[in-house]
Amino acid sequence: MKLLFKIGFLVILSACVQETKRKSATENLSDPFLDDHSYSNLNEIKTRHLHLELDVNFESKKIFGVARHRMLNLNNSDTAIFDIKGLEIQKVTTGEKNSENEVDFVIGKYDKDSILGQPLLVQIHPKDSIINIYYKTTENSEALDWLEPKLTSSKIHPFLYTQGQAILTRTWIPIQDSPSNRFTYSAEVKVPSQLRAVMSAKNSKDKSTNGIYKFSMPYSIPSYLIALAVGDLTYTSLSSNTGFFCEPQLTAKCKSEFVDLPKMLAAAEKLYGKYQWDQYDILILPFSFPFGGMENPMLTFINPTIITGDKSLVSVIAHELAHSWSGNLVSNKTWNDFWINEGFTVYFENRIMEELYGKETADILALVEIYELNDEILRIKNSKHPEDSKLFLNLNYRNPDEGMTDIAYTKGAWFLKSLEASAGRKVFDNFLKNYFASFAFSTISTKDFIDYLEKNLLSKNKIDFNYNDWINKEGLPDNRVEIVSPRLAYIKNLAAKFSAGEDVFAPKIRYERIRIKNKIKKRKIVEQIKKEDFITQEWQMFLRYLPKSISIDKLESLNSYFGFNRTENAEIALDWFTLCINANYDGVLPDIESFLRKIGRRKFVLPLYEMLAQKPQYKNFAKTLFNSQKNYYHAITKNSVEKLFEN
Ligand code: BES
Ligand code: ZN
Repeated sequence: MKLLFKIGFLVILSACVQETKRKSATENLSDPFLDDHSYSNLNEIKTRHLHLELDVNFESKKIFGVARHRMLNLNNSDTAIFDIKGLEIQKVTTGEKNSENEVDFVIGKYDKDSILGQPLLVQIHPKDSIINIYYKTTENSEALDWLEPKLTSSKIHPFLYTQGQAILTRTWIPIQDSPSNRFTYSAEVKVPSQLRAVMSAKNSKDKSTNGIYKFSMPYSIPSYLIALAVGDLTYTSLSSNTGFFCEPQLTAKCKSEFVDLPKMLAAAEKLYGKYQWDQYDILILPFSFPFGGMENPMLTFINPTIITGDKSLVSVIAHELAHSWSGNLVSNKTWNDFWINEGFTVYFENRIMEELYGKETADILALVEIYELNDEILRIKNSKHPEDSKLFLNLNYRNPDEGMTDIAYTKGAWFLKSLEASAGRKVFDNFLKNYFASFAFSTISTKDFIDYLEKNLLSKNKIDFNYNDWINKEGLPDNRVEIVSPRLAYIKNLAAKFSAGEDVFAPKIRYERIRIKNKIKKRKIVEQIKKEDFITQEWQMFLRYLPKSISIDKLESLNSYFGFNRTENAEIALDWFTLCINANYDGVLPDIESFLRKIGRRKFVLPLYEMLAQKPQYKNFAKTLFNSQKNYYHAITKNSVEKLFEN
């Protein structure tokens, strides 16, 4: 009877929790614990330390886990609410390991669009501070990508990795899945003994003999930064506190691609203060990894498309490294404040690139992004949510993934660049250094930043700067600083000449008069533009400057000079394929197909399918290809592309 009563109470509570989430975000703006994307009751009780016991089983593609939450009960609460999605909860106990008491729990209904998943309500005694959740992952655990051997570089061993950001940690760990809370974690992970487990934590540089790995993350982090990968991995050190994990046969390639990492770290520290996470390692993932990089603390996850052989895409490393300050040290409080993570990081990334490779290169990188931002602003303006081009977002009822646009990244960084221009670099650098120190290991909202900015930069230095247009208005404000690049002006001109019919890439012969033994002689000089004459980003802009209606002859001539159809550089490939699809150049379809069969990074995969699906003559090709390929993509890429073919 008593039990029934208790469960009844939880059921009613769970209905209330879900109802509250349906209310508008603005109604609750004053609630400092509000997070539209979590069911947890963080204002009452929150995790301070999480200990994970995980058994990774490749046969069943399941993780069998226990999540032991050490909690701080702020309010004498008798209920703790966690987020779960696609998890099977077996039992919940309270108390220290081995003297545990089983307690009641109730799982709420799946929310309507299954964005948030379900609340898991656990009945506790207010004095209980340890809650242990025994669970299994399922095939709906979207954070997890289980790869068959053929999808790895070696093709011998299977691979598993997790992707938590934004709200997928709840699909592999029952957790209060809101970035507003920070906690430390530790883990004991069991994997097949021929494989190695690594986490976003202190990693052992040696392989274990029995497949058991222990981890600790002694600094507090938000839930989305917990990460795990399991595969045939070896470690290579680059300096006393940097290095990388990769499949053995990639070691040499990675080593030359990442040689500049120690210099990047030194540049970052010089700018904004000491690196706070002891070790900075990189993990190279298989090609299905849906992002370019993910800033998991102590262990950045990197997409293998970054390895091009010429270091041309290492700005991604600079970006993920920069997150060790912006994002990981100072984290966005909710996903509406996502620009606090990404805008600062893109700004910081560009400063690292400038330090290492010079201002010209850094400006070109920024302009490549600004070109994309302009397209994105247009797209957003004509979308269902024109308000998404404000820096501060309202993603209530929506998947926080929808906030992952160039607005947070490029508009956010442009805001900071413009502030820098108005304050002067020295003053602004000092301001940012203090900002990272003041908010280290905490989470902040857009308003927290604005308050800090007002006080510590604007009024202090009597600077008049309209920030409100950046934060709360659509599009681009007038007070943005202009970025120019003479090298890109040259590229633009080259593209104009080429599209006007001039064969600018053909060898050009000219004669020079030289004096040899008092005689004037003519010397023949052959000049021809080579691929190496421009950096990757200049080629990208060259391709973008060409008209959509470019003739197939011209595309074929370009391909014969530079072999763009088969380029190993995925950034160039995307711009090239875009041009070809727009120009209806069918010859490139087989190369697009092999690209889409190899690479799963959403940034490349989604726009290609999108462009193909929009062309009646390519739609079927795209659909058939996607259907045969979709199970090899991570759920993040798969779900995004699937929407294109829904009707
Ligand atoms: N943290 C992001 C990736 C992310 C954002 C994952 C939101 C899930 C939700 C990461 O730092 C990132 O921005 N990656 C970029 C690369 C970067 C150089 C712009 C990417 O993957 O393209
Ligand atoms: Zn980022």
